[in-house]
Amino acid sequence: MALVRGILAPRQVVSTPNRVAAGIRPRSGSAVHSTPMDLHVIGPLASPAERAAVDEVLGAPDSGWRGGGRNPMTEGHVARGGHDARSRRDLLLPALHALQDRVGTITQPGLNYVCRRLSVPPAEAYGVATFYALFATRPRPPAVAHVCDDIACRLAGAEQTCTDLERTLGPAGESARDGRVGWLRSPCLGLCEQAPAAMFTIAGEHASRATAAPIDAAGVVARLEGSAGSAAAAAIPQLPPTNGSGADGGSMPSVRGYARASVPQMGEPQLQLLRRVGMVDPTSIDDYLAHRGYLALHQALAMGPEAVIQEVTDSRLLGRGGAAFPTGRKWAAVAGQPVQPHFVVCNADESEPGTFKDRVLMELDAFAVVESMTIEGFATGASKGYLYIRGEYPLAESRIRGAVEAARAAGYLGPSVAGSDFAFDIEVRRGAGAYICGEETALFESIEGKRGEPRNKPPFPVEVGLFGKPTAVNNVETLVNVLAILDDGPGGGARFAAVGTEGSTGPKLFCLSGNVGRPGLYEVPFGTTLGQLLELGGGVPEGRSIRAILLGGAAGVFVGPEVLETPLTFEGTRAIGATLGSGVVMVFDETADMVGTLRRIAAFFRDESCGQCVPCRVGTVRQEELLARLADRVEVRSRGDELELLAEIGQAMRDASICGLGQTASSAIESALRQPELVAL
Ligand SMILES: Cc1cc2nc3c(=O)[nH]c(=O)nc-3n(C[C@H](O)[C@H](O)[C@H](O)COP(=O)(O)O)c2cc1C
Ligand code: SF4
Ligand code: FES
Repeated sequence: MALVRGILAPRQVVSTPNRVAAGIRPRSGSAVHSTPMDLHVIGPLASPAERAAVDEVLGAPDSGWRGGGRNPMTEGHVARGGHDARSRRDLLLPALHALQDRVGTITQPGLNYVCRRLSVPPAEAYGVATFYALFATRPRPPAVAHVCDDIACRLAGAEQTCTDLERTLGPAGESARDGRVGWLRSPCLGLCEQAPAAMFTIAGEHASRATAAPIDAAGVVARLEGSAGSAAAAAIPQLPPTNGSGADGGSMPSVRGYARASVPQMGEPQLQLLRRVGMVDPTSIDDYLAHRGYLALHQALAMGPEAVIQEVTDSRLLGRGGAAFPTGRKWAAVAGQPVQPHFVVCNADESEPGTFKDRVLMELDAFAVVESMTIEGFATGASKGYLYIRGEYPLAESRIRGAVEAARAAGYLGPSVAGSDFAFDIEVRRGAGAYICGEETALFESIEGKRGEPRNKPPFPVEVGLFGKPTAVNNVETLVNVLAILDDGPGGGARFAAVGTEGSTGPKLFCLSGNVGRPGLYEVPFGTTLGQLLELGGGVPEGRSIRAILLGGAAGVFVGPEVLETPLTFEGTRAIGATLGSGVVMVFDETADMVGTLRRIAAFFRDESCGQCVPCRVGTVRQEELLARLADRVEVRSRGDELELLAEIGQAMRDASICGLGQTASSAIESALRQPELVAL
């Protein structure tokens, strides 16, 4: 395996065995040492900039043992405060983010300083730093473009963008323009409705991140050059989040323009979950209040926690994060736990390729997410909530942080929520580029400052969750549904359950992308058929025909045009052997490169497997190799035997993987290969 020199190299010794095994490039931003890293807290000292960045997160060091000045009179030979330092282990990721943002790289001295401050063994901290794709542990240019080459962006020409960038800037992972800029390939950035997309990370004193879509190679280069030229130009929100609108800052015309690009139904009267999108200034709590904001919280406080849980139970709301678990049952289980404290966690990691619904809600109705988390805390007896948001959502993160601050200032968070005796607050944590951290227990590990490796279940999070305490974890869309249930007071659960079907109640968001006339986020009642949704989205353009539709994302299933009558419900999709997953509906017309799509999906799972358990770690690599052999016509056994082997690999992953990633890693690929009319391999 050749070792590529430059800002990236295709070997990730500590964290990603699959990338090593496969001899393929790491996730975007994964960084590797071509020389071994010293794992002791010795060696060069962190630079003043690095120390300042870390101190901003952790506070100034208070002893020589923790990286500050040593007072021989009081500190002698005995280190005190180690327990305190270790109890702050959950600040490891924020501290690593601070280093990454400030200098563009997590250097050995910088990492050592963090280790000293938090009393974390350096080898362990290194293991964490190398787990996450957005952290780099070897030198990297300050301005980096993360160019999405995932399935929706491929349909919109991302491969051409990458080819053009190779020509102008050199290979992905190399530094260019005197080391000032670089570019990397990235998995889905959650902007599929505006594909192709890119994210820019600019390190420095005024570090920033921003996304742009649609964008081509010339656009990427122009933005990189602009960012690298001036630190001030790089600060958020100088790079507009999408073409033609700089939505941050809350000017309503720009918010509306931005919203319309993502939500074609914007402003329609029947909308429940998207009713405020494009209508409300997402940066203003006053405007939120003027748009029925905080009605649901007032109703909840008046009803009491048991009645809130009863309404949610009556609504028969099922979780929208993919597992479809009854929300009322989850909340009741947490509320009933004698162990204290309880936590609530909002899962805003949204990394399933093709999914962007949570991003739109957070960017354009941020207070709704904050309000619904507060209600969840009230119902489950928690006084602290964490919102874990993927690192690729800079605008959503800044909107949510702004909303949390404004809610706190207005008394909707804090020791006395809305004047009641209920105390609740929210902390926002940023992910660092790892799909697996959307799995709820991997997410807990990540908040706790560890590698995002899923835990064995049971025990389930409702009993042993974040920091080992009872935890209610819910998806963003699930939570926003709770407002629709409670807004109009008692009886809301039954009213909600009257919408949709017996097994799938309420409204549902669908992320429509790919070869459709009007890609975007659509809200329809459960039971709307696949064909009706495609019609809403303008059908396939230019009279072309549908070859395949991916339901549920990379972890979902490909179906053909013959199932357009299928109602989009949990039970309806189950009946045709498919899944709703996180609400992805991606359309591939007759011209789509299906073989390339399948190979990209296989690469995604190989890349994102945490590597903790063998069936998934090895199976995802074998699956990708097998697809490559079929696509490249490399014959080591007959095609029939290859397909049999693929099915065996899939079965082993389903049967023996710890978590849903391994259990679903083969489903889309197998489903496509079962239908020769969808893909000829
Ligand atoms: C590999 C993997 C990735 C996941 N990613 C997400 C995610 O990004 N967002 C999410 O809400 N749930 C995700 N989930 C599901 C969560 O584990 C969990 O079921 C969900 O957050 C619970 O919330 P809900 O009941 O509101 O759906 C993922 C699960 C797996 C196995
Ligand atoms: S199934 Fe895959 S992602 Fe899940 S724990 Fe095992 S190795 Fe990690
Ligand atoms: S943003 Fe590129 S595939 Fe989703």
